[in-house]
Amino acid sequence: MSYQNYENIYIMDHPLIKHKISLLRDKDTPTSKFRSLVEEIAMLEAFEALRDLPLRDQEVVTPIETCITPVIDGKKLAIVPILRAGLGMVNGIHAMVPSAKVGHIGLFRDPETHEPHEYYCKLPDPIEERLVVVLDPMLATGGSAVAAVNFIKEHGGKNIKFMCIIAAPEGLERLAKAHPDIDIYVGNLDRCLNEHAYICPGLGDAGDRIFGTR
Ligand code: PRP
Ligand code: URA
Repeated sequence: MSYQNYENIYIMDHPLIKHKISLLRDKDTPTSKFRSLVEEIAMLEAFEALRDLPLRDQEVVTPIETCITPVIDGKKLAIVPILRAGLGMVNGIHAMVPSAKVGHIGLFRDPETHEPHEYYCKLPDPIEERLVVVLDPMLATGGSAVAAVNFIKEHGGKNIKFMCIIAAPEGLERLAKAHPDIDIYVGNLDRCLNEHAYICPGLGDAGDRIFGTR
């Protein structure tokens, strides 16, 4: 399902994703269950986000005969989780694409200004030849996502997608306006941000819920 007039925003409408997001929201969902739900939702979103992967024909010998059959073409995919919470989505993507390379971008939001601060970055080379999928379960003000995509572009990344589980309208618009050339995949679009820039109804602090901190 696309969003308003944006052709590059895809909001998931699969019942399995909806159901699993409802379980994530529950404040009583324990850390271990929360972590496995994040992985499962990432895997289901990957199915949608990677539907335009290029293919090439390859000869394969079956027990019956030789045939020409499609396999994924091109350089290995790069997945780039935004630390910390994006890490929770990596295993879900690897379940679909085990050969994907992993980069990392470390950002945290200043609790007062809500602006992102970078503390770590490492991307797989050659980044300009890979499809790069940026992972973060939460797109709130959009500051972290915009900064992460800026960084990847500064390092040569050209073919970029962004995948989140929950977005606020404010962050989604900000990312789509700042980077109209990237595709954005959203598990669910929530109502708004509160005065602390948390998503409502949301699921709380994703990093804390994945890693059991607070
Ligand atoms: C959370 C979340 C996003 C960011 C979203 O990370 O995982 O990266 O906030 O907010 P934004 O859209 O307003 O930038 P946080 O800064 O809490 O760091 P953490 O993952 O290490 O907990
Ligand atoms: N980061 C989170 O983890 N949750 C929010 O609601 C907003 C930003």
